[in-house]
Amino acid sequence: MSVDLVLCNAKAYIDKQIVDCSFAINEGRILKIGKEATMPKAETKIDLKNLLVLPGLIDVHVHLRDEGKAYKEDFYSGTTAAAAGGITTVLDMPNNNPVTMNVAALKNRMEKAEKKILVNVGFYSEFPKKNSEIEKIIAEGAVAFKLFMAEQVGGLNIDDDAALLEAFGIATKMKVPIAVHAEDKLTLKEAEQKFKRANCNDIDAFLKAHSEGVEAKAVKRVLNLVKQVGTHIHFCHVSTEDGLNAIVDEKKKGVPITCETTPHHLLISTDELKRIGTLALTMPPVREKQHLTALWNGIKNGWIDIVASDHAPHAVEEKKAGTVWDVKVGVPGLETTLPLMLTEVNRGRLSIAEIASLMAERPAEVFKLTNKGYLKEGYNADLTVIDLNKKYRIDASKFHSKAKYSPFDKLAVEGKPVKTFVNGQLVMEDEEIIANPGSGQIIRRE
Ligand code: DOR
Ligand code: ZN
Ligand code: ZN
Repeated sequence: MSVDLVLCNAKAYIDKQIVDCSFAINEGRILKIGKEATMPKAETKIDLKNLLVLPGLIDVHVHLRDEGKAYKEDFYSGTTAAAAGGITTVLDMPNNNPVTMNVAALKNRMEKAEKKILVNVGFYSEFPKKNSEIEKIIAEGAVAFKLFMAEQVGGLNIDDDAALLEAFGIATKMKVPIAVHAEDKLTLKEAEQKFKRANCNDIDAFLKAHSEGVEAKAVKRVLNLVKQVGTHIHFCHVSTEDGLNAIVDEKKKGVPITCETTPHHLLISTDELKRIGTLALTMPPVREKQHLTALWNGIKNGWIDIVASDHAPHAVEEKKAGTVWDVKVGVPGLETTLPLMLTEVNRGRLSIAEIASLMAERPAEVFKLTNKGYLKEGYNADLTVIDLNKKYRIDASKFHSKAKYSPFDKLAVEGKPVKTFVNGQLVMEDEEIIANPGSGQIIRRE
């Protein structure tokens, strides 16, 4: 028997250890893991030259845009950015134009994506206007729901606890997770208006409006609701000590919640934000150093489940326009997340096992992505190949993303994804995209 591909001389992270092995890959799956001598004949053989191989990394928080926001990013540019960053699966956020919040919009998005994507893509939906649509959206294959609490994006009235509870109940019954952007709208908008009236339009005012308390308030409100229905809530981009502590307290009691943070919330402080300027502006914003320390403790203690990029690309002009209130918030992160995390491995702050857990295993488990997250026989042949010793500087002008800016631009990093395999196909090699659009697959909740 001859298989599609054999990868030999890998140092792969398998069963919590790094082992010397080879992979036989057929029809997009890992057929066999073992010694090179035991591998079947193959059409193609690639020598991985003792590079580190991780399970294909999964980024659960990505804004791929396209459609009405294609000038910022489209399915092709966004998934080439993923492949270049060593990411083999992304989950796409719903704040699109049109908003992904009904069957027609979701279906249309999937159809558009299918021909353009180079990595696997699953889709979030916002909650629809009518709760009766929730089950239909799930039947169409949405992987999870998103609840944006800083303002109403979907059809659900976010000011109404009873409406939230009802929607949570349906998602719970259908066993679909809900990812929450926790910033309290009323507190936030009130503060924003106050600063605008006082003509305070700088980064400081933005930080005060998007205060630590704004996050903690929304987290606590959702936690109160969770206790009533037992919904699996996943907190996106946790940025504050208080927010994290509230989540950890409930986790300790066994409440079924999970959370993520991002490289910018872990690595950039407000001092650095003020130095870099509005290019680094995000929602929630980065915080003072004490919060960065709390987030790192959350990672080291296993309370933070996932590191995701919150890849939120904009046109560079949109990042500089007008007052701070007009600036589009968000930074591209698909091409920087893994190098930044590998740099932390080389600094001794993180282990390879932690990267595998935060960026592959837990993402697959939390979002119930079958046959992903681990290097195992029978699993999808999604693999991220890494040169852990490669030293270079991040260069945003070379991004595959349309958003050619980064708060980490010019930063020296150590560790680089050098090959990305998606469903057994080599998609990226040494920064170059070598597969055709369409090699990624749409992930549908079954
Ligand atoms: O920084 C952000 N950018 N936060 C969000 O919640 C939205 C996102 C975007 O879509 O640009
Ligand atoms: Zn968000
Ligand atoms: Zn986001």
